[in-house]
Amino acid sequence: MVMLRNMIFATDNSNKVNEINGLMSENFSFRIITKTEAGILEQIEETGTTILENAKLKANYITEKYGFDCFSEDTGLIVDAIGGEPGVYSARYAGRDNDSEKNIELLLKRLENKADRSAKFLTIIALNIKKNQFIFEGEVKGTIIKSKRGDKGFGYDPVFQPDGFDITFAEMDTDSKSKISHRGRAFNKLIEFLNTYNLD
Ligand code: IMP
Repeated sequence: MVMLRNMIFATDNSNKVNEINGLMSENFSFRIITKTEAGILEQIEETGTTILENAKLKANYITEKYGFDCFSEDTGLIVDAIGGEPGVYSARYAGRDNDSEKNIELLLKRLENKADRSAKFLTIIALNIKKNQFIFEGEVKGTIIKSKRGDKGFGYDPVFQPDGFDITFAEMDTDSKSKISHRGRAFNKLIEFLNTYNLD
């Protein structure tokens, strides 16, 4: 029987854990566990001013405080016509309560008179393993449509239509979304790396 090593994912978002579990092959030698499952109950403040900084600080908090190998991810929606907003502030664009309805409302208002509605999601993963840090990125380009469509997914999914598709992320099932999504692409790079990493 293959011995699985635990790898902490610095999140308590079960959507994200399900997403990465759905991408791993059966012979993957790690079991992904959330930080709560690892006994780390405190919230890690995302005080960085970039997506990269936030990804690093979450992973570094766990490694520095508890000495565990782990990885974290941070994601933002970057909309060209409004200078890259909401970017690192995607979760709290319209206020600190991470209210997706209000965030979408504000985004649509900010784009009201803009012809260019191009956008991308960017995910950055920071992996701390055996005293080294590795960074993985994934992105998906698309368009912010004028009104919401679909009820799947979360966050900005109802107004994000990926390039090459005529449906939004909120109209796709999880598997189809994670095949092309920012996070799916970054997770795949992480999985590929861990598959070939020498653990001895
Ligand atoms: P997080 O830091 O990865 O939790 O992402 C910050 C914010 O970006 C979330 O609160 C969502 O509003 C948005 N976001 C991240 N990933 C996605 C996604 O896959 N679809 C839609 N919105 C997302």
